[in-house]
Amino acid sequence: MKFEIPKPLKVEHEELHTELTEVIKAGGAIGEAGKEVARVLHSHFLKEEEYALPPLGLLSVLAQGQITPEMIEVLKMTDRLKAELPEMLKEHRVIVEALAALTDAAKKENKLKFVHFAEKLTLHAKTEEEVLYPAALLVGEYIKMKI
Ligand SMILES: [Fe+2]
Ligand SMILES: [Fe+2]
Repeated sequence: MKFEIPKPLKVEHEELHTELTEVIKAGGAIGEAGKEVARVLHSHFLKEEEYALPPLGLLSVLAQGQITPEMIEVLKMTDRLKAELPEMLKEHRVIVEALAALTDAAKKENKLKFVHFAEKLTLHAKTEEEVLYPAALLVGEYIKMKI
């Protein structure tokens, strides 16, 4: 069974990625700070797209009471997320620190658009910590209970 990342989440990741490319293109201190964000962000995004976000594709069907035996395969992803959660949260702290440095550089040059980008990506990490990761873990727990 294939587990698809919900489209809005996929689009959000792509958008953040594109915006980060613009930050790097700005060059100077902002560009350097952007490169550091990209360095710590890239592998993190890949891991999320591999196993943290695809289980969320089941939420709407599960909420409608539809459950099928092949959904058990999602446990490979949710168990991995559970095991790697401390590491994922640590990566968020490193990303948020890099974003704070970007904010400083952008404020010095009065480039509010990049300050806004840093805020948006910081909030993205918070949304994952408080909503998306727990929701993905609950998908796994729910399927364990039901199948
Ligand atoms: Fe993310
Ligand atoms: Fe994240």
